[in-house]
Amino acid sequence: MGSFDELEQIREQALVDLTGASTTAALEAWEDRYLGRKGEITLRARTVGQLPQENRPAFGQRVNEIKRLLVQAYEARAEEISHAELETRLATEAIDVTLPGRPVTPGHLHLTTQALRELYAIFGKMGFEVYEAPDVELEAYNFDLLNIPEYHPARDMWDTFWVKETGEGPSNRRLLRTHTSPGQIRAMRERCPEPIRVILPGKCYRYEQITVRAEHQFYQLEGLAVGRGITMTDLIGTIAQFARMFYGPDRTVRVRGSYFPFTEPSVEVDTECILCGGKGCPVCKYTGWLEVAGAGMVHPVVLENGGYDPETWSGFAFGFGVERPSMMKYNVQDIRWFYGNDLRFLRRF
Ligand code: DAH
Repeated sequence: MGSFDELEQIREQALVDLTGASTTAALEAWEDRYLGRKGEITLRARTVGQLPQENRPAFGQRVNEIKRLLVQAYEARAEEISHAELETRLATEAIDVTLPGRPVTPGHLHLTTQALRELYAIFGKMGFEVYEAPDVELEAYNFDLLNIPEYHPARDMWDTFWVKETGEGPSNRRLLRTHTSPGQIRAMRERCPEPIRVILPGKCYRYEQITVRAEHQFYQLEGLAVGRGITMTDLIGTIAQFARMFYGPDRTVRVRGSYFPFTEPSVEVDTECILCGGKGCPVCKYTGWLEVAGAGMVHPVVLENGGYDPETWSGFAFGFGVERPSMMKYNVQDIRWFYGNDLRFLRRF
């Protein structure tokens, strides 16, 4: 036990084995086998105490020398191996940075948003500012204050989504606004006694059968002007100017008498069909005219509900759907496509 010869044999064998270890795993196994806690060299070092006294120093010294030598050899080999492993990784996992990147498809604004922004710009030039009103509305604003009391037959014009009741009394019930007109009352109550010139964009909701022509959600744009001496001429001029800016410079408009509870008198405004220019085609159902907006002079009761004295103040209002004009402009045949999130449709605009 503890012979010098054996020690030298171990050293030789260890160095041979080390050359054979070519991976980090093999290297670790080698370290375990020779230098580890129960490794060959470590075990030999522990036998020093069992040797005859006179052999101990020389043997101990040689064990230490060999250990140092093996540790050095180990470290050199470890360096070689990690270098080689890095080289293989660099060769096999190489990324070709000269390859062209994958193209990123940029998104764009929804057709409705584009239309709304165009409308804001047009009315902005005529001095109208955007006024936002809530989607979830009180029954009072959506109906009563617009001169449509409970049991008024005109309520049938708007089939309503009701929100679970939260308020006291009938006119405090909540609903999803069926039109943007309730914003008129909000704007008037906030601005009174100042003159007003606002447009009120927003989503409206109706409890309706969905078809190619009707959705239960859609956008409207409402307009309201209140001042002293505002007349029907101002209304017609404003809408005619809008039609020229939106549909083209040569558009003429026509005005037909109509009925809305919140305006008196009430009208409907048409413009020459943008497709056939008035000759008659399927889009205008061969009439030559397209409906542009419902409108009228703000009803005295509505002015009063907004805080304005109808003896000294007057105003006009109008309202129209936002998807319809886009449908006519781009010949979109199905209003449901606006809400279908089908990219084949959305990418067209
Ligand atoms: N609120 C009406 C609707 O949804 C549209 C409308 C008509 C708005 C006449 C107005 C107006 O401001 O004066 O059918």
